[in-house]
Amino acid sequence: MSEASLAIAVPPFDVPRHVAIIMDGNGRWAAARGLPRVEGHRRGVEALRRTVRAASDIGISVLTIFSFSSENWSRPPAEVRELMSLLRRFIRHDLADLHRSHVRVRVIGEREGLDPDIAALLLEAEELTRENERLTLVVAFNYGARQEIARAAQRVAAEVAAGRLTAQGVTAEVLGRYLDASDLPDPDLIIRTSGEQRLSNFLLWQAAYSELVFLPIYWPEFDRAALEGAIVEYRRRERRFGGLAAKTGS
Ligand code: FPP
Repeated sequence: MSEASLAIAVPPFDVPRHVAIIMDGNGRWAAARGLPRVEGHRRGVEALRRTVRAASDIGISVLTIFSFSSENWSRPPAEVRELMSLLRRFIRHDLADLHRSHVRVRVIGEREGLDPDIAALLLEAEELTRENERLTLVVAFNYGARQEIARAAQRVAAEVAAGRLTAQGVTAEVLGRYLDASDLPDPDLIIRTSGEQRLSNFLLWQAAYSELVFLPIYWPEFDRAALEGAIVEYRRRERRFGGLAAKTGS
């Protein structure tokens, strides 16, 4: 779809505020071409760059990407090492560009146990870009939704134990405030590539009313046209948030 047609198909007033993406299928993309899996991940980083640019152009406010899950540690050590070094390279090479493009980087997931240099890079990216306002890029790294909810519950339990909160005071709204990026809106649209149709422990709490779009392409093939296509599909959905009347997003 061209930029001109997007202007008609997705007017600014109906762009989802928060789009979250499960970037799946790097390995299968590579295997289909007789390439090593790592080549799929490398091409996945290129797709990520395209997507950040497109999201910013389209006017999306928050883009969350699932870049390494709590469960990905169980992959072969060489692949885990490659994913870690791709993250390092992504931040070292792209951080200045992201900053110039007014992208604010946020990171969700468990920081404890990460290599100290990775933890430092993540912090540097967040601190450098803290004031940027064009697009918030949320990098879910060493992230699992159940772990995030459990961490929030631990912090809430500590508040109750300290007498600062009553057990009855632990409502969904209160627990939600202890999640990793509770100041950001919930995703309006969650996209998963590769044809798999599940959430795989991604944003389980925040996805309560998200529209889910599953695309039959591998992540390295993802581009602006694919993002626009998913947004067109999102606009066809009627979001009711548990009520009866159609409402627009968040
Ligand atoms: C899924 O493909 C993708 C991942 C596990 C990681 C996503 C990583 C990138 C796009 C590149 C790294 C980017 C950063 C910022 C670290 P898969 O390996 O599960 O593919 P498969 O299901 O076909 O095997």
